[in-house]
Amino acid sequence: MQASKDMERIVSLAKRRGFIFQSSEIYGGLNGFWDYGPLGVELKRNIKEAWWRDMVTGHDELSILRGAPSTYEMAGLDCTIIMHPQVWKCSGHYDLFHDFMIDCRESKKRYRHDQVRGRWVTYQGKRIFVGTQVEVAHEEEDLQHRALKFFNLRAKDAEKLSWELEFATLSQLSDFSEVLGPDAKSLGTLTPPREFNLMFKTYVGALSGEEGAAFLRPETAQGIFVNFKNVLDSSRVAIPFGIAQIGKSFRNEITPRNFTFRSREFEQMEIEFFCHPEKSAEWYRYWRDRRFQWYRDLGLSGERLRLRDHDPEELSHYSTGTADIEYAFPFLPAGEFGELEGIAHRGDFDLRSHMEGKLDPSTRPLAVELNVDGKPKYRGSGKDLSYFDDQTRQRYVPHVIEPSAGADRALLAFLCDAYSEDEVPDEDGKPRSRTVLKLHPRLSPVKAAVLPLVKKDGMPEVAVGLYRKLKPHMSAVYDEKGSVGRRYARQDEIGTPWCLTIDGQTLLDNTVTLRDRDSLEQIRLPVDACVEELRDRLSLRNV
Ligand code: GAP
Repeated sequence: MQASKDMERIVSLAKRRGFIFQSSEIYGGLNGFWDYGPLGVELKRNIKEAWWRDMVTGHDELSILRGAPSTYEMAGLDCTIIMHPQVWKCSGHYDLFHDFMIDCRESKKRYRHDQVRGRWVTYQGKRIFVGTQVEVAHEEEDLQHRALKFFNLRAKDAEKLSWELEFATLSQLSDFSEVLGPDAKSLGTLTPPREFNLMFKTYVGALSGEEGAAFLRPETAQGIFVNFKNVLDSSRVAIPFGIAQIGKSFRNEITPRNFTFRSREFEQMEIEFFCHPEKSAEWYRYWRDRRFQWYRDLGLSGERLRLRDHDPEELSHYSTGTADIEYAFPFLPAGEFGELEGIAHRGDFDLRSHMEGKLDPSTRPLAVELNVDGKPKYRGSGKDLSYFDDQTRQRYVPHVIEPSAGADRALLAFLCDAYSEDEVPDEDGKPRSRTVLKLHPRLSPVKAAVLPLVKKDGMPEVAVGLYRKLKPHMSAVYDEKGSVGRRYARQDEIGTPWCLTIDGQTLLDNTVTLRDRDSLEQIRLPVDACVEELRDRLSLRNV
């Protein structure tokens, strides 16, 4: 129950303070689409900028980083959202990128079969499975209510129902005849699962038939693979090197849910790292650990963040390793984690698919999938995507390590992790409860707030001067409205790490109070030292 309460408070704060709004809200919203408000856009940009700086522009290609097998280079890319349809045929998305959906003949609703949870219940020898789609915290209540209704019982008869302990999802059931669908009143109204391709289709140009059909990309990765040769030929990079891209992706999720966690439009931050096949296992381990550490360095730590290596049976056979970085989001059942990022060893699957044609992932060694005429089912580009190593005089198709993260999921995890409620002394020393976002200062939308204690005696003038000094260096706000306690509370709630207060003493000795959001420590420092002090604090926490 507590977890869902927390989530409700986080969602409410996100809306109230302008982090996240429902898309097209004035028209009732559009399921699976979200807008970032004035503070949300800054938080998201800070996440993406931290990723880009740490992975790409700030990368030191002359040093061997901890855990890396050698030095390496990084380059960036920004590809289009709509690409040649053949890209998706060769990548496998056209045939294989689907979820299983189930329709309810009674309610006409559609569900993803692995997302309908429920429990078996028996009454007077009749055993049925009651399915639900409500938030985890309300599941028990919903199941009880609907089972009572189904068996024509009243609330006081609840103990006559005999529930089986374990929750299951519809994907674990082979027969739906005894299933009560999440919005149904009778049993057996759910259809068997059917494949549903998640790619959004659109039409390019004036042709509305299949000739003009194209797709909105469901991942940014393929844009990197198809530009591999361009990057190699136009820059000085040599293997090992990575290409990074941040951009929108689109998936027509059957049941978008859990706030922004599963959206239909979202942003990915992906790297395709190209290396020699013999070195790929070492590079995989490097990227897995490096990416995990990145979240920890930005404040996600403790038991809610974990690195989970896939079991061998979960791996595609061309992959020697895949790991997920996961976070225990408050909307999940206790003990469950949601994926923030996947790090996959993809072998030469992608480059070869775009060279030779769609590979059949079940073949070993990988072979091109053929149609009934014995020709490639989907032709590749025919372009040579192999790599020639000048030093070893060796030619090979590089192997790929793919760290693939979601910017929206990262934001949601940082927001959930930062959210806390505690007590602080007010101006009179009495305890006052506060809501605070303990965001890492690099991510905070506003770094500093400048507050004149009162709106007179020359304090606003000094404060405005300081605000103007800070502004070229960091995002800062000036606030003179309300009591200073209220103003601190406003800044705590949006995660501003530092407040600078101008008071009576400032007018005597030109010093201000610097208040730290987390420790609540207050120190005095000269007005002229503020910019340097905050820049130091920001860059110190950068490393
Ligand atoms: N190129 C590999 C790839 O796309 P993925 O696991 O499907 O792998 C990578 O996606 C990341 O993208 C996920 O870990 C998640 O952070 C984000 N992501 C995927 N689907 C999403 C969705 N519907 N809504 C929000 N983020 C999503």
